[in-house]
Amino acid sequence: MDRSEPGNPARPAAGVRLCALDEIPDPGGKGFRFREGSRLFAGFVIRSGGTARGFVDSCPHAGWPLSALDDRYLTRDHRHILCAGHGALFDLQGACVAGPCHGERLAAWPVEVRDGEVWTA
Ligand code: FES
Repeated sequence: MDRSEPGNPARPAAGVRLCALDEIPDPGGKGFRFREGSRLFAGFVIRSGGTARGFVDSCPHAGWPLSALDDRYLTRDHRHILCAGHGALFDLQGACVAGPCHGERLAAWPVEVRDGEVWTA
């Protein structure tokens, strides 16, 4: 399965405003859900300073969403993205550095920051 979900009709097109950058803790993350009929697209954005990086919210291990709690994507020390499913750790570029999917990557969900707002790219 391609976890980047390019054919998912619920995946938003480029140019959709997600939120103000300041709505995401620094550092921190925020999840987004889009629905189209019976299909759901889940993504999340990790902020670090003035930059934002997006990922499809699907763990390479079992395909589960990473966060069990709203918007809690980072470890307490903010150094890694955590999958609550079985504890996989990812660096902030999306590479799994520990856990059952070691060596795999989160699928990118391209986003960009423009004038203090986060948009799909
Ligand atoms: S579902 Fe993420 S580590 Fe198993």
